[in-house]
Amino acid sequence: MTKKIPLLIDTDPGVDDALALLMAFNDDRHDVVGLTIAAGNVGLRHTVRNALKLCEVAGRDDVPVFAGTPEPLLHPAPDAGYVHGQDGFGDIGYPPPARSAETEHAALAILRLSHEHAGRLLLVALGPLTNIALALKLDPTLPQRVARFVVMGGAVTGHGNITPAAEFNFYFDPEAAHLVFQAFGRIDLADWEATIAHGLHHERVAEWLRADSPRARFYAGISEKTRLWSIDRRGDHWYAADAVAMAFALAPEGALEVAERPVAIELQGAHTRGASVVDWRRESGRPDSAHILLKYDQDRFEGLIRAALAAG
Ligand code: BDR
Ligand code: CA
Repeated sequence: MTKKIPLLIDTDPGVDDALALLMAFNDDRHDVVGLTIAAGNVGLRHTVRNALKLCEVAGRDDVPVFAGTPEPLLHPAPDAGYVHGQDGFGDIGYPPPARSAETEHAALAILRLSHEHAGRLLLVALGPLTNIALALKLDPTLPQRVARFVVMGGAVTGHGNITPAAEFNFYFDPEAAHLVFQAFGRIDLADWEATIAHGLHHERVAEWLRADSPRARFYAGISEKTRLWSIDRRGDHWYAADAVAMAFALAPEGALEVAERPVAIELQGAHTRGASVVDWRRESGRPDSAHILLKYDQDRFEGLIRAALAAG
């Protein structure tokens, strides 16, 4: 039997983060070695608690959870509680998790785990990149030990979701995104526009959520508010950004179209702070830094979600 790929997930749960985590837990080719927690969708207190609760529901209390940085590197940013619920998990009032987070800081855990799994580690970032930027500042050799780095963030032709030009994760902490893009030679990027291209029909999602499993029942509860918000605001399809990124991470062979280009993060800009600027015509002469996901096998994507919800 080939050894499982060690998978470290930096995340800010968040309803779509939760779906991505269930997908990761359900994948037998990967071994989730830790969750490092960012602030983003809601405050760190909630995102840590949500991560712990999700592990409990999924029967994965063996996965260590590390609390990270409570604020963006430089400028405070508004959260997305209006999408995910004020607690990030739909305000259903779930009973508190039995477990607490580890005492080690997320940035230190990223560095330690990168040494323990040097050359094999799959790192996946589903939230603002604050913890990873901090880890890079502590140890700039981090990218040398990461085998593959998948990031959910950006809007590669400028169709943002939090501002007209920017996507939430990069807008929340643009300085962190900038540092990360400068440091990693290659990032596999699943942006907001890839998310829009891989919407999930609300009726199909509702059908999957009727599965007779603790995961599906919990997920139906925490996602209800945001699915209703989405029906109201965005129409027939639901967009689960972090699930797209996780499909790309777990099963890269499902990617049908990928573009390699240089990407820079806008830090100023009256209208464009946090935008991901893709050099589509390669005019800058800078090396291609991102493999941008354009098209993923929709059936495969939906299959991964269905399996993750019904599991055990
Ligand atoms: C991203 O922002 C968050 O609200 C989601 O969890 C996802 O990571 C989408 O722009
Ligand atoms: Ca997220």
